[in-house]
Amino acid sequence: MTHERLFGAAPEGHWSAPGRVNLIGEHTDYNDGLALPLALPHTTKAAVSRRADRRLRLFSGGFSGDLPGAGPVDLDLDALAPGAVTGWAAYPAGGVWALREAGHELGGLNISYESDVPVGAGLSSSAALEVVTATALNDIFGLDLTPVAVARTAARAENDFTGVPCGILDQMASACCTSGHVMRLDTRDLGRRQIPFAMALEGLRLLVIDTRVRHAHADGAYARRRVECEAGAAAPGAPALRDVAAEDLDDALARLPDDVLRRRVRPVVTENDRVARAVSLLDAGRARDIGPLLSAGHASLRDDFGVSCPELDLAVEVSVGAGALGARMTGGGFGGSALALVDAGAAEFTARAVRAAFDRAGHHPPRIFEAIPSSGAQRVPV
Ligand code: GLA
Repeated sequence: MTHERLFGAAPEGHWSAPGRVNLIGEHTDYNDGLALPLALPHTTKAAVSRRADRRLRLFSGGFSGDLPGAGPVDLDLDALAPGAVTGWAAYPAGGVWALREAGHELGGLNISYESDVPVGAGLSSSAALEVVTATALNDIFGLDLTPVAVARTAARAENDFTGVPCGILDQMASACCTSGHVMRLDTRDLGRRQIPFAMALEGLRLLVIDTRVRHAHADGAYARRRVECEAGAAAPGAPALRDVAAEDLDDALARLPDDVLRRRVRPVVTENDRVARAVSLLDAGRARDIGPLLSAGHASLRDDFGVSCPELDLAVEVSVGAGALGARMTGGGFGGSALALVDAGAAEFTARAVRAAFDRAGHHPPRIFEAIPSSGAQRVPV
């Protein structure tokens, strides 16, 4: 249904914000570390019109076939409070709440959304919702926020309004990535560098394999990892695990009181190092050589960090067995998506091998598509 028919007012504009995949640098963002995300061509779009009253009316035209259309959800702008809104509407409502918390004056709004970002697939569908909302309101109300400020607002919405203790990787990727690039993100100071990632030119493809596994208890396990990482940094007296250099890892491990903490610290410290190495290889025009770093990252998340699952492991193992240069889970884990870096000529073969293996194992058919580095949040033509 069109915005105008729903709300009786033509939208003042349309905005979009993408989902993301993280090429490498997993579970580093809440440790002040490095990550290397790229924006997907899959986006969440918002059409917005202002209202004369102080209501916030949110409508969803559906999310990627994963969530049916819903709404309008009718909210009082002045009564938005953490925990007061549940379901998909909590993300955009959180974006509005966070802008108001930051002192911005907003009026009533009608917002209609549509999205082809897979939901619950570790591809940041919630960040896309928050970021597109903050980006649209930034323009409409002339708030003068930079993309980084938009990302901070969106992360505040997720942390403090919906209560999900994530880092800022997803929101930064959705707000700040640029087309044709991966973004080196330093989550300590939010420093960014866009690195050309011309996969097609180099005869490469990046496949995303959405396992369609959604783990209900992922939030609690994620929160525990955060606490364990903080304890793991505190024992050797580091402000964050970012401050433990790869060459000092053995020393740091020796100071930890138990094996669980050692198994949390090792992946984060080595992952930061892998991001740095991947960046050097990309800078040297050697994208195909990052494959082993991806696979080593997966092994570490699977064996030590404990955030993989059988379907992700199968996707990675079969991809590499079918000739992928490297493969790993991407995002928070416990389900969601894996990625595989493959020679262009082997992409179809790899995808077929993964589908067949899932079928043999009795898993749900995976959704497999190519990740083409795309643009961050922006205003778009109708
Ligand atoms: C989720 C979180 C991010 C990040 C990743 C793991 O996507 O939202 O902040 O921690 O997991 O890298």
